[in-house]
Amino acid sequence: MLDFVELLARRSGELLLERMSQQRTIGFKSTDRDIVTDADRASEHWLVETIRDQYPDHAILGEEGTGDLSLLQQTGYTWVIDPLDGTVNYTQQLPFFCVSVGLLKDGKPHAAAVYAPRLDEMYKACIGEGATLNNQAIQVSQTKTLQDAVIATGFPYDKHLSERDNLHNFALFTKKVRGIRRMGAAALDLCFVASGRLDGYWEEKLHPWDMAAGILIVQEAGGTVTNYSDQTPRLEDGHIIASNSSLHTTMKELLQPYTQQHQLSYPPY
Ligand code: IPD
Ligand code: CA
Ligand code: CA
Repeated sequence: MLDFVELLARRSGELLLERMSQQRTIGFKSTDRDIVTDADRASEHWLVETIRDQYPDHAILGEEGTGDLSLLQQTGYTWVIDPLDGTVNYTQQLPFFCVSVGLLKDGKPHAAAVYAPRLDEMYKACIGEGATLNNQAIQVSQTKTLQDAVIATGFPYDKHLSERDNLHNFALFTKKVRGIRRMGAAALDLCFVASGRLDGYWEEKLHPWDMAAGILIVQEAGGTVTNYSDQTPRLEDGHIIASNSSLHTTMKELLQPYTQQHQLSYPPY
């Protein structure tokens, strides 16, 4: 099964690369900052057709209109796919974009692949079998304190409209850490925690397809993933803390006042 998950992520990633130099058509979704391109749609179309050919009885939830959130509660297999994570980077020719393919079994993470074609990096995990980057086992970092840590986050597409814009938390963490990054692709941020390049990551207003694969990859690399309230993350939460485990309590405590003050509901906008 993991071979098929890998094939999906790799081939659709290659498709994205092939289309990169072509003329783009750009549309808007939730806000005027939230874009979708011909490449996002073509990638999802190929992924859905390929999964349906191979596993006609499996459910599919995809960012660009395939399925709906009720599928996350379903028994059996459900594919949760982001056909292009990091669309803004893609349109700017920045290399941090990927395809994220998560496979749930009875609503729980089962297998995952995230492929970043410009970096030629394939992250994979299967439940209980560890995580790999280009077939080499990966582990989270050993960093013990925030002052020695490099962490990442992201900002929602309604940041210009909503008080929940992550700017307060960004300022808070920036003062505490060695370095902070905003790479622009949530699934890759999670994989960078898994491979030890980042020591931690937090973000809110995410969608199930941003997190479905990355959560398993971090966990299988020895990291900890919760929602902001320190619970086992559900894909419908939209808020996530992923860390090398050592930093988890500190990160959660720093976010606590914010978590208590705001209603972190899903869908976020
Ligand atoms: C976005 C990216 C970004 C994150 C946004 C996501 P998209 O996904 O992962 O890093 O900050 O919240 O929506 O739109 O490029 O698939
Ligand atoms: Ca995404
Ligand atoms: Ca996307």
